[in-house]
Amino acid sequence: MNPQTHVRYEAALKVTGQARYEGEVMPPGMLHAALVESPVACGEVLSVDAARAETVPGFATIVTRADSESLRPSGATALIREKAIHFHGQPVALVAASTGSQAREAARAVHVATRVQPAVTHLDQAAGAAFAPAAVGRFPAASRRGDPSRALSEAELIVRNRYTTDVNNHHPMEPHAVVCWWEDHRAVVHTSTQAVFATRASIAHAFDMPAGDIRVLSRFLGGGFGCKGQLWWPWMFWAMLASRKAGRPVRLELSRAQMFTLVGRRQATTQDLSLGFVDGRLTAIEHDVVAQTSTHADFSDSTAVYTRLLYACPNVSTAHKLVRTNEPHPVPMRAPGTAPGTFALESAMDEAAGQLGIDPLELRMRNFAAHDQESGRPWSSNRLLECYRVGAERFGWARRHERAKSKVGRWTVGFGMATTLYPAIRQACKARVRLSLDGSLVVQCGTQDMGSGTYTALGQIAADALGIPMAKVTVELGDTWLPDGPFSGGSQVTASIFPAVEAATSKLRAMLANLAVGDPGAPLGGRRPQEIEFRDEMVRGRSSNVAERLVDLLARGPADGLAAEGECAATDHQALAATGMGYGAIFVEIGVDAELGEIRVRRVCGTFAAGRILNPLLARSQFIGGLIGGIGMALHEQTVTDRATGCILGKSFTDYLIPVHADMPEFDIAMIEEDDPHLPGGVKGIGMLGTAGIQAGIANALHDAIGRRVRHLPIRIEDCLASAY
Ligand code: MOS
Repeated sequence: MNPQTHVRYEAALKVTGQARYEGEVMPPGMLHAALVESPVACGEVLSVDAARAETVPGFATIVTRADSESLRPSGATALIREKAIHFHGQPVALVAASTGSQAREAARAVHVATRVQPAVTHLDQAAGAAFAPAAVGRFPAASRRGDPSRALSEAELIVRNRYTTDVNNHHPMEPHAVVCWWEDHRAVVHTSTQAVFATRASIAHAFDMPAGDIRVLSRFLGGGFGCKGQLWWPWMFWAMLASRKAGRPVRLELSRAQMFTLVGRRQATTQDLSLGFVDGRLTAIEHDVVAQTSTHADFSDSTAVYTRLLYACPNVSTAHKLVRTNEPHPVPMRAPGTAPGTFALESAMDEAAGQLGIDPLELRMRNFAAHDQESGRPWSSNRLLECYRVGAERFGWARRHERAKSKVGRWTVGFGMATTLYPAIRQACKARVRLSLDGSLVVQCGTQDMGSGTYTALGQIAADALGIPMAKVTVELGDTWLPDGPFSGGSQVTASIFPAVEAATSKLRAMLANLAVGDPGAPLGGRRPQEIEFRDEMVRGRSSNVAERLVDLLARGPADGLAAEGECAATDHQALAATGMGYGAIFVEIGVDAELGEIRVRRVCGTFAAGRILNPLLARSQFIGGLIGGIGMALHEQTVTDRATGCILGKSFTDYLIPVHADMPEFDIAMIEEDDPHLPGGVKGIGMLGTAGIQAGIANALHDAIGRRVRHLPIRIEDCLASAY
């Protein structure tokens, strides 16, 4: 398959408003729901009194902890089955009414009595109680190779610093919503989720019902970034319970303010990092991370995991610890692990380069890891050195200081660079393709498109395999009636669907080839099926001009056309012969206005090596989207907790800043071709590759511009004011 620049399959549907998001489904008789939130951050619910709420016009029903007792206990139901209050704003009841405003009014009229306990509202408050989590994602929480403390004591240069990153929230444009109803014992659940099958499994478990009686749909999403998963489930269960109680469909949509508390966050981190060098080579790394988790569950990003393998170094130890606070629970968010982790590592490499008098790019190239030093395995492919070379050339890295004046108008200009990486793995996936007599193709997979291009990728893989134009392809996603597909996350979807669709289309090609050669009177009759190729809606002989139209061929087959299913297995991490990683080099130019403390990203060059690129247009868009998220983390996004009450402050886009067009620089994106023999189709994920590295690139450029080293994110105005340095 050749890389093809197809525009988004669903672009016209979205810009014309025809794409139906699940929260826009409007069944007749639908009730609207609102959540009653805890006014305290820690304690217990004593009672919920709905007497006044019941008098509000339109009131239909209320669901509380008492109703949740019918649900099976699990991590997904704990928050709605137990009395404990873990964070400010934790829902204690759900009210359904005829309209949304009636539901909100009734929710305000519910009286909640609580027993209040002192809340832990900051990481530092409970630092003494830090504990090691069981694991960080799929990795061990701690690692050690060699003797890092001895190597540090023998190093010529030690760079030892603390880096901190603050809490961020995901904030997809579309908030979470559910529209649900019951058909006898069967449930229909339209909800904005990154994982229809995992959502179905959670419902099946909680309600103790067969998965086959549940249909979950999520056909269009206005973004996800990691928050449209498990933390949404309890509130969705309550909407389902309300629907069952009222005997009517129920709709719940979170407010923007609730998107700060109810669906997860990027955890704050404190990272102590030491690098030891001898002769410009890394001889020791110690990376210790302390991060926030909630009082009801453990979550740790894989923050220091990539420090284990990014550079060649014989003595490395990493560790993760967690601290419980009465704040909302963290979940993966946009480059989980790599974004905060590379901020520390790539900032420290820059500090080391300065102290060693070695160019930061040269230092990285000198410390390139030729294989995965943690597992001892070779890389499945790794063209990071090529990324450095090509990116530096495009950006003009070597001539950066001679080319640019350090002052451009009011801007003091600086340059920085950093490395990014992300694992290339895949999930189990099934896909179905169906070719109708009119030559149109339907491709089906129960994965989702978060807005990242899955419709297009799925359609074009199948279309290209069968020589059919995209205009004749229908793609169906986001429905548990479709074959089991992967959750949309971990930059794994394209790598997962590719082998499944290839398996399905190759079965279909075999059926078509047999039809083509099987009829002695047909143009290709009597040839060997291996000689058949598929192009321009025709089957052709490879070595001749003879061809037959697909529609003529299909007319000789079954009346309902031809269909086939394919599947692929998830990455077997135990059996891997090689470590799959995508890499990139990020080069950044920034300007600082020291009078205003304003910092502006002027230019970014991202050069990425991430396997085979199926659709350069989509890939470029993904890389730019990732970089924008990284710029947001570096300069804009910060969730602030009121330390007195545990309440999140400024729960709106007025106070929580996200990058807008006017903040964005010129992006130069380059993709280095990789031919990876270890991964099916040579496909690596790219979604979150651009989201890491850039943070350190910006901090490094800031140091280059004004000589000030900022070791926390986000970088703030006061860090850049002339009076600060
Ligand atoms: Mo993502 S943070 O894997 O949705």
